[in-house]
Amino acid sequence: MTFAHSLLVLAICWVSWLTSATEATLRSYNNPIIPGFAPDPSCIRVGPEYYCVTSSFSAFPGVPVYASKDLVSWRQIGNVFSRPEQLPAFGSVNSSTSGIWAATIRHTNGTFYVTTTLVFDGAPFDDPSRWKNVLFTTDDIYAQNGNGWSDPIFFDFPGYDTSLFWDDDGKVYVQGSHAWRVFPAIQQYEIDIKTGASLSGDPVTLWTGTGGLAKGPHIYKKDGFYHLLIAEGGTGVGHMVTMARAMNVNGPYEPYTQNPVFTSANTTDYLQTVGHADLFQDTNGNWWSVALATRNATVNYPMGRETIMVPATWPKGEYPIFNSQLPGRVQLDMKGPLPASQPPPRTTPGDILVGQNEHLTFSKGSSLPRQFVYYRYPDFSAFKISPPGHPNALQIMGSAENITGPTAAAGTSTFITRRQDHVEFVAEVTLDFKPKVDGEEAGMTLFIQRRQHFDLGVVALSGGQRFIRLRTITASSTNEGQTDPISRPNIIPLGANLNPLRLQVNAVNASTYLFSYSEDEGKTWHLVGSGAASQVSGGFTGTLVGMFATGNGKNSTTPAYFCDFEYTVDPLIY
Ligand SMILES: *[C@@H]1O[C@H](CO)[C@@H](O)[C@H](O)[C@H]1NC(C)=O
Ligand SMILES: *[C@@H]1O[C@H](CO)[C@@H](O)[C@H](O)[C@H]1NC(C)=O
Ligand SMILES: *[C@@H]1O[C@H](CO)[C@@H](O)[C@H](O)[C@H]1NC(C)=O
Ligand SMILES: *[C@@H]1O[C@H](CO)[C@@H](O)[C@H](O)[C@H]1NC(C)=O
Ligand SMILES: *[C@@H]1O[C@H](CO)[C@@H](O)[C@H](O)[C@H]1NC(C)=O
Ligand SMILES: *[C@@H]1O[C@H](CO)[C@@H](O)[C@H](O)[C@H]1NC(C)=O
Ligand SMILES: *[C@@H]1O[C@H](CO)[C@@H](O)[C@H](O)[C@H]1NC(C)=O
Repeated sequence: MTFAHSLLVLAICWVSWLTSATEATLRSYNNPIIPGFAPDPSCIRVGPEYYCVTSSFSAFPGVPVYASKDLVSWRQIGNVFSRPEQLPAFGSVNSSTSGIWAATIRHTNGTFYVTTTLVFDGAPFDDPSRWKNVLFTTDDIYAQNGNGWSDPIFFDFPGYDTSLFWDDDGKVYVQGSHAWRVFPAIQQYEIDIKTGASLSGDPVTLWTGTGGLAKGPHIYKKDGFYHLLIAEGGTGVGHMVTMARAMNVNGPYEPYTQNPVFTSANTTDYLQTVGHADLFQDTNGNWWSVALATRNATVNYPMGRETIMVPATWPKGEYPIFNSQLPGRVQLDMKGPLPASQPPPRTTPGDILVGQNEHLTFSKGSSLPRQFVYYRYPDFSAFKISPPGHPNALQIMGSAENITGPTAAAGTSTFITRRQDHVEFVAEVTLDFKPKVDGEEAGMTLFIQRRQHFDLGVVALSGGQRFIRLRTITASSTNEGQTDPISRPNIIPLGANLNPLRLQVNAVNASTYLFSYSEDEGKTWHLVGSGAASQVSGGFTGTLVGMFATGNGKNSTTPAYFCDFEYTVDPLIY
């Protein structure tokens, strides 16, 4: 951005700030607003409530829905994709970059709509089977515990990042990004929202962007213009938000002369890779933008792409200004004209808010919280809460398959995890596991994808003797699923003591995890080994932490019992 442009922007926002200064006082908040593995946010306001959805890739349940009343404290209220019957094909997604990509949430006339794409990365870019575009709806976003979304309506789109726009005349348009690398352009057609059929024939091209892979489109109609907001530059450090506008919904779209409007490219900001934005207005009429960003914590970002938010001003007849305090950029510590501070809608005692500490006791009659995810579709019957004789425990019966799996495309591993939300955190669980058959193993995993994870487990070896073992599974395209060839597994005999162990994953700083166990309920800890955060950084997705069991090639005969799963953070670190 040029100096003259910054002055212009400051002048514009100073004027608009004057006109809106009486509406709300500026309050502070921190980014990311939804921390940990929350890419490609799309958010709306409905009455006094705000809802966001994010991408979930191979995690199931998928497309988490977050709700807030003040834009600062958020609660996950459900998952759009929560029943395998909704998308049986998801069971065979076959790479860490496959699965559920960016979703868009919109609301009109009492109904919520979510579009998203089930992607089979690896299939040719111009192969229609690579992109399955789907539309989910619900009239009550809280129905069935937040899982009451419809079965999908499939609609054809030769690409991904599909979004919806309702025009004033009632016509509905679907926009998306035409298949990556084949023809990176934003295309659109008029859709029959009830059937998914095109009402206008083949998609038409709206804009090819300013030169970087055009994706993540949304259309907003304001002051007589159709404003098209897109993402460009790939999802790495060159990521940016650009805009164009037209007098007609199908164009011609004229690019803004001051693009990009929002980016961290070529800055040393802590929050990098900013892009894939959405815009909405709050109850006071103020505009806000959400986008994805990664943290540059000494180059490691195990949380992957997270959701950030900036206040925006949108002067009449102009383009929006993202974060008038530092135009076009995002900061960790923000100020904005937030709605009054209040808890998320329908919060009941015991609900956890995003970014808060968590303690799961697996009490009888409880279910796994909606923020816990499996990888693809596991054998759900391998997981039981408070089974007979084991109250307040999660029983996991290990599958023959380990977490890596024989190939990326087959089998079902047994593990259940939640997102790593903070640079520094401690996760612990108590494990009662007395395997008799060699190879049977259970413990904690810190997982980003099938070829990149740390597994701290109790394992039977050498004729049923128990050991505690830390393994590092290192990504390598030629070495799929191999144990780290450099650092041999750390392995410690446990002796004859069969008491439960407390296991711990401790992210002590931005570069190191420590893996420990305790034989006296956490009074004294024994370090098993350490791991580099770089090992679980750099992906499309974010790191997950949780519990696993495997028979390492055979179905397990001995169940593992997990109690008191805790995720805690230092309240001063976010
Ligand atoms: C809005 O919803 C009502 C009730 O479902 C329906 O009768 C009406 O046709 C809808 N209006 C539009 C514009 O879709
Ligand atoms: C993943 O699935 C797609 C679609 O079925 C297929 O084209 C591709 O070859 C598969 N990739 C791998 C690594 O199995
Ligand atoms: C960042 O700098 C590179 C090299 O000068 C330039 O090509 C690119 O356009 C810049 N990106 C943005 C978003 O300004
Ligand atoms: C990230 O931080 C490291 C260490 O401070 C720095 O060397 C690097 O340039 C930063 N990257 C970006 C994209 O700002
Ligand atoms: C996981 O299982 C596959 C075969 O099913 C095997 O090739 C791989 O070495 C195993 N990985 C580990 C870490 O045991
Ligand atoms: C992170 O913690 C590890 C283990 O305590 C230590 O060896 C390393 O120096 C620390 N790194 C930084 C950047 O503080
Ligand atoms: C494990 O059990 C499942 C059914 O419970 C069965 O389909 C599978 O073949 C078994 N695997 C092995 C390696 O025995």
